[in-house]
Amino acid sequence: MSYEQAITFIAQPGGCLTGQIRVPGDKSISHRSIMLGSLSEGTMIISGFLQGEDSLATLKAFRSMGVQITGPDEKGQVTIHGVGMHGLKKPEKALDLGNSGTSMRLLTGLLSSQGFDVTLSGDHSLSSRPMKRVTDPVIQMGANINSDEKGTAPLIIHSDTSTQLAGIDYTLPMASAQVKSCVLLAGLYAQGETCVTEPAPTRDHTERMLQGLGYQLEVTRLDEQRSKICLQGDGKLTACDIDVPSDISSAAFFMVGACIAEGSDISLNHVGINPTRTGIINILRQMGADITLSNEKEVGGEPVADIRIRYAQLNGIHIPEDQVPLAIDEFPAISIAAACARGQTILTGAEELRVKESDRIQAMIDGLQILGIDCEGTEDGMIINGGEFGSGTVDSLGDHRIAMSFAMAALTAKGDITIKDCANVNTSFPDFISLAQSTGLKVSS
Ligand code: S3P
Repeated sequence: MSYEQAITFIAQPGGCLTGQIRVPGDKSISHRSIMLGSLSEGTMIISGFLQGEDSLATLKAFRSMGVQITGPDEKGQVTIHGVGMHGLKKPEKALDLGNSGTSMRLLTGLLSSQGFDVTLSGDHSLSSRPMKRVTDPVIQMGANINSDEKGTAPLIIHSDTSTQLAGIDYTLPMASAQVKSCVLLAGLYAQGETCVTEPAPTRDHTERMLQGLGYQLEVTRLDEQRSKICLQGDGKLTACDIDVPSDISSAAFFMVGACIAEGSDISLNHVGINPTRTGIINILRQMGADITLSNEKEVGGEPVADIRIRYAQLNGIHIPEDQVPLAIDEFPAISIAAACARGQTILTGAEELRVKESDRIQAMIDGLQILGIDCEGTEDGMIINGGEFGSGTVDSLGDHRIAMSFAMAALTAKGDITIKDCANVNTSFPDFISLAQSTGLKVSS
C-alpha cells in the first residue's frame, strides 16, 4: 500500500452543520470544458474549474496531446487555447486517467478516429470497471480498439488517416451519461448522423455545452422517460467562456449532514441544479427534508441556485426508480440519511451502483452494518432500517463518495468513526476536510 492510499479519516461524534459555503466546481462540467474547449476554435476561459485529481487527469491528457492550457490558478481559472476539431497531436505516452471513469469513457469516443494511436490507462479501480459499454458502440461505428479479455482498460485505440467512423443510431442498454457522451463525441467525427436514445434522463452537460459552443444538436422527447439526441458529424466548435457551478454531488454530503444533525442550518452557494442532477433534492424532500432554493439563475447554459438545508426528522421511503439516474452518485450519502430516518428506506433499480468507483451497495451496507444499522444489500439496491450509529472502523474501498458519506454519519454517532483508504477524496473534493471542519464536522485525517 502506498503512503497515499493509507490516508485515514477520523470523524468524532456530535455537532451540527452551520454557515455558508461554496463547494468545489462540478466534476462532470469541468471534464467537458477541457475536452470541448480543446476542440474549439478560439480561447476558452473556464472559471470555477474543479481542481480535483479526476478533472486534472483530463487536463493533463489534453496538454499531452499538444493543447496549450494554462492554470488552474489560485481562483481555479483555466485558459485553453483551442486547437480545433482536428488539431490534437499523438501523445508521447499512454494517457494515465487515474481513477476517472468519465475521462476514460468520454475519451474513448473522442479519440477513436483522430488519426493517431493512443492508449488509455487508469488505476486499479478504473482498470476493473466495465468499458465494453463504450467500446462496443464505437467499434460498431468503425473504430479499432483493443482491451483485455474482460473488455477492461488499458484501452488501445488504433487510428490512422484512413480511419473514418460512420454515424450510428444507438439505443443505450443502461441509463448512462458517460456512454451517451462517448457516442456523441465519436459522432462529431463520423460521416452522417449519430443518434443516441436514452432509456431515462441522464445528465445532459455534454449536450448543453456542445450547443453553447455552437454545435447543432436535436433532442426529441420520445415519451416520459426516453429521449433521442442526434447530431451530424463534421461540424465545428467556437470557444466561449464557461463558469462551472458548484457540484451538487459534493453539496450532497452537506445536505445529508444538515438533514440528520439537530441544530443544523447551512447554505450552499452557487450549486448546479440541472434537472438531470437534482434527484438528491427530490429524494430528501420526499423523506421530509427542509430544503429551500434561492437566487436561481442560469450561468453559461446551466441552472444554479443557493441551497439552504435545515435539520428535519426524515422518514423512510421507497425511492422512486425514476429518481435513480438523477441521483446516481448520491446513494452513498442518501444511505446515511436513510440510516437516520424513521422506518425503512428501500432502493431498487440501482444495479449500476455495483460498477462505480467501488461496488457502492456492498461498501455502504458493510460500513452501515459495522456501525450498527440493520440493513441489507439486494442485487439492485438496498433495504435500510433507520436506527442509530454506534462507532467503528469502516473501509471506503478507495471510493471518495463512500469516505465522505461515512464522515457525515459521525454527526449522529455515539463514538468515533474511523474511515480507511480516503486518499481518493482528492479526486472530486480536495478541500473536504477543511471545508467540513469550517461547518462544524469534527473530522481530521
Ligand atoms: C458522469 C456520469 C455518471 C456518474 C459519473 C459522472 C458523467 O456515470 O456516475 O460520476 O460525467 O457523465 P454513468 O454514466 O456511468 O452513470
